[in-house]
Amino acid sequence: MEKEKIRKQIEALVKRYLADSKIPKLPVRYGGSVHDSEEAVEMVNAILDGWWVHGKRTDQFEAAFSKYLGVKHSLFCNSGSSALIIGTDALKLPKGSEVISPALTFPTTINPAIRQGLKIVLVDSDIGTYNANIGQIEQAITKNTKAIILPHILGNTTDMKRLMQLVKEHDLLLLEDTCEAIGSQFKGKMLGTFGSVSTFSFYPSHHITAGGGGIASTNSDELHRNMLSLKSWGRRYSDKKHMPNQQIIRSDYIQQYTYDTLGYSLYGTEIQAALGLVQMRKVKKFEKIRERNFAALLKFFKGYSDLFILPRVLNGVRPVWFAFPLTITDPTRVSREPLMDFLYKKQIESRYILAGNISKQPAYADVEFSTAGSLEGADKMHQDAFFIGLYQGMDAEKLSYLKECFADFLGNA
Ligand SMILES: Cc1ncc(COP(=O)(O)O)c(C=O)c1O
Repeated sequence: MEKEKIRKQIEALVKRYLADSKIPKLPVRYGGSVHDSEEAVEMVNAILDGWWVHGKRTDQFEAAFSKYLGVKHSLFCNSGSSALIIGTDALKLPKGSEVISPALTFPTTINPAIRQGLKIVLVDSDIGTYNANIGQIEQAITKNTKAIILPHILGNTTDMKRLMQLVKEHDLLLLEDTCEAIGSQFKGKMLGTFGSVSTFSFYPSHHITAGGGGIASTNSDELHRNMLSLKSWGRRYSDKKHMPNQQIIRSDYIQQYTYDTLGYSLYGTEIQAALGLVQMRKVKKFEKIRERNFAALLKFFKGYSDLFILPRVLNGVRPVWFAFPLTITDPTRVSREPLMDFLYKKQIESRYILAGNISKQPAYADVEFSTAGSLEGADKMHQDAFFIGLYQGMDAEKLSYLKECFADFLGNA
């Protein structure tokens, strides 16, 4: 009883402590965690419960996410990058087989495939959509192609109907990196439900956060078992998921100490899952704010459509944008670095489009990529594109300030 009373007091104190916390007017960030005392109370409760790795909150978060996405299994791990490691490994692609992926990407989207000795065939992306060019994907398919690793860049995507036709026709596996596209849809179907495996990130700058953390989702029992094993030191799993909170009987014990895969240890914590669970309840609200902010920024930048290529969406795609991207049309009129410097001084965050053309990054100097055509779109975006924020922490005041600063800079362009 005394403990319950203290818990209530702690809860009241946490609520009081965070009662008037507000995102400051400056800086105007491109993303960041938006939370209140609800999240903090649940995280404190998770600490007080005293079971911090893989317990009931992880189970609940995985179930809530699977329901939201409409898939059978979701596995919570410590980052989106870790979800990509287990997702890629679980596909068990033969060494040397070809995997198609866009050049304009995020490093950890393809790093696990490179480490596995797969041959990455880079394809170009379209300026404005920032996503893989479907024509080049088609051109890139050979008899050695085994999979497509498709990041849905900035919440947008490619023509998923044609992509799925290619996947079927050529008997390929599809891994969707949905880390930037929670809630986005193609013709009413959630991104992250098209492939054999899909991955999500809850890093604080993403659509919802779990203070870091990631999820790998699948409809396949076998892939789920493989990923669970890879996440958990390589342990063997049968139909039972895991049993840390349950009584372990002798046969389970023998099974758990049989190692089926060359595993890792990639657990998220119960404290993260507690945060993620509360954020799940807010995901629809956050989506609406992102849509509203995207519309406001698009309207504003339409006034500068001679200077920038505006974000573009293909037929059937309903993105929940990660950020607001722009590509400079003519760098002799507007140059990216001075513009980004100006914004930085005004305390407005802007970023390059992820790693740009990944093959130009130093880490990949010795990686033997192949291509199926020119990467001119990726190169142009590597050079002249950037994004600014539209996340749920941006209100009308921040949007006005941002527009004012752009108008100021672009006035003489
Ligand atoms: C497209 C994409 N893939 C993967 C990741 C990796 O996610 P995490 O930061 O959770 O490891 C990110 C993270 O920003 C991303 O944007």
